[in-house]
Amino acid sequence: MDRLYHVLEAQQFDLDLIEAIFSTAQEMEQVVQHYGSNILNRRVMATLFYEPSTRTRLSFESAMTRLGGAVITTESAQEFSSAAKGETLEDTIRVVAGYSDVIVLRHYESGASNRAAAVAGIPVINAGDGAGQHPTQALLDLFTIQREIGRLKKINIALVGDLANGRTVRSLCYLLAKYEDVKMYFVAPETVRMKDDIKEYLQRHQVSFEEVDDLHEVARQADVVYQTRIQKERFGDRTGEYEQARGKYIVDRSVMDCMQEHAVVMHPLPRVDEIDPEVDADPRAAYFRQAHNGLYVRMALLRMILA
Ligand code: CP
Repeated sequence: MDRLYHVLEAQQFDLDLIEAIFSTAQEMEQVVQHYGSNILNRRVMATLFYEPSTRTRLSFESAMTRLGGAVITTESAQEFSSAAKGETLEDTIRVVAGYSDVIVLRHYESGASNRAAAVAGIPVINAGDGAGQHPTQALLDLFTIQREIGRLKKINIALVGDLANGRTVRSLCYLLAKYEDVKMYFVAPETVRMKDDIKEYLQRHQVSFEEVDDLHEVARQADVVYQTRIQKERFGDRTGEYEQARGKYIVDRSVMDCMQEHAVVMHPLPRVDEIDPEVDADPRAAYFRQAHNGLYVRMALLRMILA
């Protein structure tokens, strides 16, 4: 079994490790079907979430529970942990590390997981750091593409929506850049276009990408349309900019009509109004299957870190 320690950014994974995670995730699906395992008996996972979450926190907690481990948790940590009294992230991590074997951290500041890893003395998993990265989401996204399309090479993917603030798309770009003949189409409102650091990374790694305006045109060529939410919480008082960006690109029946039969729509969720609910009934709507895959991928990560 390959061992992992920290999970901090998508760039840390090589192709062999990704394959090992996916193979373990497939085993984990069997484990769930057979009512779990005790492999992580007596191990403790701490989930420290300074930003809201449904999928990431609960799928990690379910993953740990299904593997026989225990969970200690604080949601809304900014309000309900001693951060509210002025404790630094570093001090909180030093203390929580004494109570647990792995820390899963979501934080509103980019780089927070690296700061945590520097002082923890136990493995730290980045569960989303501001507009930085969300590497475990990118792994489950990649796992979903492999399952839905049957390959990771020669993929045309349209990344749509808030590409400036979307940590999931940033991490996914780093992972997809490892595969041959991937073509990325960036479809974003003017105010939230993909940042230069990712574009420079893709150029350095000879990954083909194009910034385009016409979602319907791109939908005809895409194997995957990866829609994202315009992240209102990152706009602060720039409500005008948010309103301009919101609603520009919606995946609805007209977009589905352009897509190929084998293609899929993905979304890290939560969605607001950027995918019309009438799309949910289309078999190509893969976003709830994608969220479900998060359980298996996170079980695989915990097993590889702790077992
Ligand atoms: N995709 C994702 O990170 O969802 P949550 O914010 O609900 O964890």
